[in-house]
Order: sequence, then structure tokens, then C-alpha cells
Amino acid sequence: MRTRTTATRRTAAWAAGLGLTMVLAACGQNAAAPSSGGGGGQSAAPPAADAVKVGVILPETESSARWEGFDKPLLTAAMQAEGLNADIQNAQGDEQKFSTLADGMISSGVKVLVIASISSESGAAVAAKAKAQGIPTIDYDRLNLGGSSDYYVSFDNEKVGQLQGQGLVQGLDEKGKANPQIIEIEGAPTDNNATLFYNGQQTVLKPKYDSGQYKLVQKQAIEKWSNQVGGTTFEQILTSNGGKVDGVVAANDGLAGAVITVLTKYGLNGQVVVTGQDATPDGLQAILRGDQYMTVYKPIKQEADATAKLTAALAKGDTAAADAAATGSVNDPTGGREVKSVLLEPQLITKQNVKTVIDDGAVPASEVCVSDLANACSQLGIAAA
Ligand code: BGC
Repeated sequence: MRTRTTATRRTAAWAAGLGLTMVLAACGQNAAAPSSGGGGGQSAAPPAADAVKVGVILPETESSARWEGFDKPLLTAAMQAEGLNADIQNAQGDEQKFSTLADGMISSGVKVLVIASISSESGAAVAAKAKAQGIPTIDYDRLNLGGSSDYYVSFDNEKVGQLQGQGLVQGLDEKGKANPQIIEIEGAPTDNNATLFYNGQQTVLKPKYDSGQYKLVQKQAIEKWSNQVGGTTFEQILTSNGGKVDGVVAANDGLAGAVITVLTKYGLNGQVVVTGQDATPDGLQAILRGDQYMTVYKPIKQEADATAKLTAALAKGDTAAADAAATGSVNDPTGGREVKSVLLEPQLITKQNVKTVIDDGAVPASEVCVSDLANACSQLGIAAA
């Protein structure tokens, strides 16, 4: 389905670019974090009056702590470092609001529009509207199938899924579970990433289901990645399976948190292998407690920086510079076209390397190593903040 030219793939040692002074006050819950809540830590001066205006629309808050906790502050800082004044709004899972926000940004004269859409359809419609006004668009994190955006910036999302599959297998092996029963709680059917995560997971899990080594109890996609719906759905599947489960593919940390709440209610937390994604403070804490086995760390700073570079080039109409910043292309099977892309590397995180995320400055130790986890942190060499 997806092809990528790997020749020009960026292998930049991103850690070098990660200012370790960056302190992210990622919100502890998946509820909206106040945008002024210390996020980003780069409390830079307001943008220069003559800074070029660009627009960014983020999709939701309830699906993941990442959008307000990581993306918003990091994009704000990265855009500012490129001399841009970014108007960053969140559509709160409402496609109508997404479209209205885009209209407002287009009429306010943004030079570039960056969109992380709720669905391919509504994202593609917004991109078409911007294009009609001569405004270039960038698909941020989620590719709009059948869309017209000039560029796409994300991670290798099939690899994300593959890491989740590998993490599940590793966790089940460590626990010595024979013939484990698996429940899959997947992302939104309207998010192309959720499809890619699923495809990646299945490269590892399908042979195990097919051979009878693992049993798939049920898989369920969760509309809009709603954590709340994810929890109730998981509980229904669990109870109808007589309370039996050994492993849960939870497509991100938010869904994992909802699953763990249910497992805890039934006294099963810690006995079941649960996956995740996003390396959120809650996810990292659940890993240290032993309730979640793994997460996938996607350094959002790299994603924000790459997006800001592309945005700056496009704002100047410098498509040569924008093309040079792209590291490959992704195939959009719906639109039948190749989209110039920057795809970054995800990383598998278990208890053993939670420290990596903290050392990179993506999440401060103070957000993870609190109260009951202070000991676990010091045993893993993580200095409490
Ligand atoms: C993103 C994930 C996120 C999920 C829910 C996906 O498109 O890639 O990082 O957890 O959406 O917001």
C-alpha cells in the first residue's frame, strides 16, 4: 500500500537538536491541557509584528495528550524559530469546527495551512479550499487520503504498529503466557494512521493467530480514538469473554489508560500485557507501575521542526527548499499520487528505556517520577527533577 523512497531518508541525529532544557508540561490526563499550562517551556517573546502568519489546526484533545501537551507547544516554538507567527487551534473532534477554523484562517490571510485532520474527507475538503485561494497546505501527522496537500510530515506509522506487535509478543514471552488471548482496541477508522498502525501490528500478530499460537478474541476500531468509548468497549469484550484476556493491543496511551482502568476494576492490571503509543506522562507512569508493557516514542520535536522548516519555505514560495526538506514520498492509494514527505523514526519503549524519553527532554522527570514511582525512577537511573 504505502511506498517510501528510502534513499533520501533523514537519519539526522535528532537528539542533537533536542534542547535538553525543553520542559514539556504535557497534561497528565487526555483532557485538554490549558495551552498556557507551561507547555513547551520555550516561553519565547511574542512573535515579531512583521512575522508571516501561518495556520495550524489540530484534531482533538480527548484522543491523546499529545496534541495539546506536545504538538501545540513544540509547533509554537518551532514556527517562531523560523520567524513565523503560527495561529494554532484545536478542532476538539468536531469536523464542522475544523472547517470553520480553516475558513477563519484562510480569510485572515495565512500564508500556509498545516492540518492534522479528524478524517481524510474533511481534511481533503479543507486542503482543496485553501488551494483554491492559493494557500499551500501540509498534512501534519495524518495523511488525508484523496487529498491535495503539497507535503506530509509524520512518522513511519506502519513501523509504529510493528513495534506495538513486537512489544506485545515480547511482553507475553516475558510473562510466559502460553496460547494467549488477545483483544485489539484500535484507533479511529477515519484516521489513515490507525490503518497503518493496524497493518504494522498484523505483520507480527497475524502469523501467530493463523498458526493458533495466539487467539484473537476480538478487534474493535474506536471512533475518534475516544478513550472513554475505548474503555467501555474493552469492558464489554472482556466480560463477554468471561473475564479472560492475556494481551491487549491498545493503539495509543490514551486507549491503554482506559483499558488499564477496566483491568484494575477486575483486579487484572499488571497481569495483562498492554501496548500503547505516544510516550505520554501517563503512559510512562503506567509502564513504571507494570500496568502497561510498552509505548512507542515518537519525538514530536522532530515532527514540529520539520513542519516549521517546510512551512517557512512554502511561506516564501521557495518550493525548491521545501522539496529539499522532504526526505521521500508516500503513496496515497485513494488519490493515486505520491505525496512528498518527511517520515521520522519511532522507538519502542519499555520499562528498561523509559529513561531515553526523559533524557531526550520530551517529558520531564517531574511529570513521571512522582510519589510511588520515585523508587522505580531511581532504580532505573532516572534523576527525579
Ligand atoms: C497519531 C497518534 C495519536 C492518535 C490519536 C494518530 O493519528 O499519530 O500519535 O495517538 O492519532 O490522537
